Amino acid sequence: METKILESTNENIKMAAELIQNGGLVAFPTETVYGLGADALNPEAVQKVYAAKGRPSDNPMIVHICRASDIGQLTPKLSATIVTLVENFWPGPLTLVVKKKASVPDVTTGGLDTVAVRMPDDQIALKLIEQAGRPIAAPSANLSGRPSPTKAQHVIEDLNGKIDMILLGEDCRVGIESTVLDISGEIPTILRPGILTAEALQAAIGGEVVMDPALLVNRPRDVSEPDFQPKAPGMKYKHYAPKAQMIIVEGQREKVKAEIQRLQLLNERLGNKVGVILFEEKAFVEAAHNFFARLRELDEESIDLILAGALSDTDGVGFAVMNRMLKSAGYNIVKV
Ligand code: TXA
Ligand code: MG
Repeated sequence: METKILESTNENIKMAAELIQNGGLVAFPTETVYGLGADALNPEAVQKVYAAKGRPSDNPMIVHICRASDIGQLTPKLSATIVTLVENFWPGPLTLVVKKKASVPDVTTGGLDTVAVRMPDDQIALKLIEQAGRPIAAPSANLSGRPSPTKAQHVIEDLNGKIDMILLGEDCRVGIESTVLDISGEIPTILRPGILTAEALQAAIGGEVVMDPALLVNRPRDVSEPDFQPKAPGMKYKHYAPKAQMIIVEGQREKVKAEIQRLQLLNERLGNKVGVILFEEKAFVEAAHNFFARLRELDEESIDLILAGALSDTDGVGFAVMNRMLKSAGYNIVKV
């Protein structure tokens, strides 16, 4: 298929909206990462998203809306918690998992009785959804398993020839995907950490927010293990994998630097091409912005081994980046 790759002018956004209305696939920028959009209420269109990405079909999509009140079209009842969160954080990098209405197709939610909803903070995305006149289901616009796309070029690399259109935009401001918060049960639970932290959510709700215990597992996961049951189906898959082997080094800053240097020299002597990811200490927001792009950059350079310094953070933005880093490295971590 020929993919139209176009600047996000009003005219091109209109064309993109028409493609969505006709069951087509359009990649578009958001503030977190680029998304691959389809009509969320059209099962055949959503099916095509799974196919284009090579994504397992039990992994549900996030449904994107352009007006906060539109969440009422997708969920039967608006609780006080929903209203508070929406007022505080939308548009923005927060996805809410809520009970779904019957009108939301099963393919969109991977057969779950809940739906994930988000209002992105990006003018191109909002215009596209508005003009399509319907909610847009959009996972990240990468091939399944590859690092999420934070630049238009990343989308072109992964999806050119597989979808109808790519709307070009700026590099994504945030750089990691939205925080996924499940509010369909008793206690609000973070299923995927993001730039919006538990602390910020807690302050807004004025009550407890917990982490899905699966997020605290710091070792390679075996999906068949009974204790490993992440509630967001997507969190169990191999993710963000660079082509190179990757090792994370964790510990006190100076020791980490020394160990990375030692491993680098050793491996270079063996003829391996080594890449290093070492962010400034505590510069977590910057790390979030750059992490996926850096992984792709190293792939371009045909690196054999990536050595990454762990970010030391137990629950904030650094924790969210570490969640991605651990998956990229297949939980390959050494402590010094
Ligand atoms: O920032 C983002 O959220 C980006 C942009 C494009 O908006 N989208 C994104 O979508 O990251 P995706 O499909 O790559 O990740 C969605 C995550 C997956 O881990 C999925 O399993 C989880 O959200 N999810 C979706 N619906 C769910 C539901 N009903 N219950 C639990 N988890 C759900
Ligand atoms: Mg994704």
